[in-house]
Amino acid sequence: MKILVTGGAGFIGSHTVVELHHAGFESIILDNFSNSQKSALQGIEEIIGKKVTFYEADINNPSIWDIIFSEHQIDGIIHFAASKAVGESVLKPLKYYRNNVGATVVMLDKMQEHKVSNLVFSSSCTVYGQPDTLPVTESSQVKPASSPYGNTKKICEDIIQDTVKTGNGLNAISLRYFNPIGAHESALIGELPLGPPANLVPFLTQSVAGIRGELAVYGDDYPTPDGTAIRDYIHVVDLAKAHVSAINLLLKQTTSPENPYYDFFNIGTGKGSSVLEVIHAFEEATGKKVAYTIKPRRDGDTTAVYADCTKSNEVLGWTASKGLVESLGDAWRWQEKISK
Ligand code: NAD
Ligand code: WQD
Repeated sequence: MKILVTGGAGFIGSHTVVELHHAGFESIILDNFSNSQKSALQGIEEIIGKKVTFYEADINNPSIWDIIFSEHQIDGIIHFAASKAVGESVLKPLKYYRNNVGATVVMLDKMQEHKVSNLVFSSSCTVYGQPDTLPVTESSQVKPASSPYGNTKKICEDIIQDTVKTGNGLNAISLRYFNPIGAHESALIGELPLGPPANLVPFLTQSVAGIRGELAVYGDDYPTPDGTAIRDYIHVVDLAKAHVSAINLLLKQTTSPENPYYDFFNIGTGKGSSVLEVIHAFEEATGKKVAYTIKPRRDGDTTAVYADCTKSNEVLGWTASKGLVESLGDAWRWQEKISK
């Protein structure tokens, strides 16, 4: 079975291509390398022991879809390709609406035209904002987005759901990721942020590697046990495996125009960890001391978000298996590899 992976050279996409291979799928990668490097393809090939087929192109270009669909019988698409920097999205909202929303519309049009039925979409826990109760279930309220980036995720979910409802043959799943971290245990693929990372774990590893200054801990006055904000950090390999489960679930559907399939799932560990707990887990995993300074809260940050994953456990048959210490150990080995 062939799966088209948009953004397959990126952080989550590259790990998913590896897990698709382990599960017996062949991946076709479509990526313009706007936020990744070709070395990711070499890393994937080294892990899986074979060449991957890839198309270097922009997903906004309608003709690339015609080319791929004419050259391959595609059984499903996993759609990672998007811009993802929350801060940049505030400064350049149109870039985000074009690359995330506009491109998704192009893809859906082309899927319909070429009768490609199955889609897994990369959504985000950002759609929940600061939830009223924790842990967050899929029936928790979706809050107004705090950034254009977050808004694109909600809009795309709605567009995909509306398209499924037409009964034109599309079945889809949106996966709402919590905070992906870590790297493949081989340290052959991982996260490659361009410029100073905004996210905690890549900043932390770069800081310890001496590439960045001291880590800032944004706020120690939150109403949490140690005063720092809480998130649900999920190992990227566990997250990648959730996509394999989602594709398998889509391929099993026996749908009709009157009864199409759309659903959405939280993909996290179910465990919240504070910023200070992440720092301590990193120290435990690596034996390295983390230097940090407490700074004021970062604008727009929420106090605490972590997932209830009962639905993904029961319906997708998926559960996260890796803990924080293992994830941070893998993140550090990847950082050491790319710092050399
Ligand atoms: P990433 O930037 O590492 O990967 C995205 C890939 O898409 C990159 O390889 C980039 O070159 C490619 N791409 C972007 N625009 C493209 C275009 N127009 N045409 C072709 N390729 C294009 O990001 P990631 O962390 O792997 O995230 C993957 C998806 O998951 C994104 O949709 C992101 O919004 C979503 N997501 C990420 C996180 C996170 O914290 N990493 C959390 C929730 C959701
Ligand atoms: C985690 C915690 C920070 C950096 C973002 C996006 C979200 C999703 C995942 C895509 C927070 C604190 C951070 C630092 C710190 N992406 N922190 N010092 O903000 O939960 O989510 O990535 O969908 O949409 O908003 O992740 O890693 O930036 O922050 O203290 O240098 O670490 O304040 O409490 P966040 P993060």
